[in-house]
Amino acid sequence: MSNEGVTTITHNDVQEDTARVFTAECHRVGITTEEVVDFYTKWAMNGKYDQDLHFENYEGPVVAANAVAEYCKDNIPWANVLDVAAGTGLVGKQLQNRGFKHLDALEPATGMLEHARRKNIYTNLYCEFLNSKRLPIDDDSYDCSVSCGGMGEGHIPLNGFSELIRVTKPGGFVCIVMKESYLSDCKEYEDGLEQLVKDLEDAGKWERLSRDVVPNYVFGENGVMFRFKIRDVVCDRK
Ligand SMILES: C[S@@+](CC[C@H](N)C(=O)[O-])C[C@H]1O[C@@H](n2cnc3c(N)ncnc32)[C@H](O)[C@@H]1O
Repeated sequence: MSNEGVTTITHNDVQEDTARVFTAECHRVGITTEEVVDFYTKWAMNGKYDQDLHFENYEGPVVAANAVAEYCKDNIPWANVLDVAAGTGLVGKQLQNRGFKHLDALEPATGMLEHARRKNIYTNLYCEFLNSKRLPIDDDSYDCSVSCGGMGEGHIPLNGFSELIRVTKPGGFVCIVMKESYLSDCKEYEDGLEQLVKDLEDAGKWERLSRDVVPNYVFGENGVMFRFKIRDVVCDRK
């Protein structure tokens, strides 16, 4: 019998469709932070998040870990890294594969964080949101802070950047990887994100090292990666 004109649906097609729908659902316009964490907690159950966002669909964790490893290349076994919006630990796993030994996770969705805990990647796991509230972390604690996939509707708000800077050491590295379209589609970031990046640079808080488009970040769609160096001396330009 001829199969002409018949589309064969494989397990992977179904899985990718599910992952696309879930990703869109947890970034829908107007979603609250509580709905976001509930959604991720349910998605993490039974390892579903890791199955759906395996590396063929989602290259973000590899890209983020490569950037951190490049910055820390002479210091990998000693560098301490905070994985922000760590989820189930996909970025942490990539960092561990590259020889990092001092990894902490910050993640508000309990289900995601529990999954990450079971992988034995992280030393300290903080069940916290990154936002304007002070985190239970001392100033200048980390050589690097990295966030991959943590930006989006109802996700990390712009007022979280100050905390990211506060907990990262002077001279340290901050890497943010996100879907490129959220820069314009997400109300919170539209106009505001790139302007804030510049304002923080003008205020002497960090230096933007690069802003790169990441092809095939997730489901073949582009991402964008920002890399920053925390300024050694905070200069007041007033
Ligand atoms: C797409 S997942 C990315 C997880 C992981 N970094 C990865 O690459 O697989 C987004 C994560 O951001 C977390 N998140 C949402 N809002 C956050 C906030 N304000 N602060 C920190 N994490 C947040 C969610 O709970 C979720 O685990």
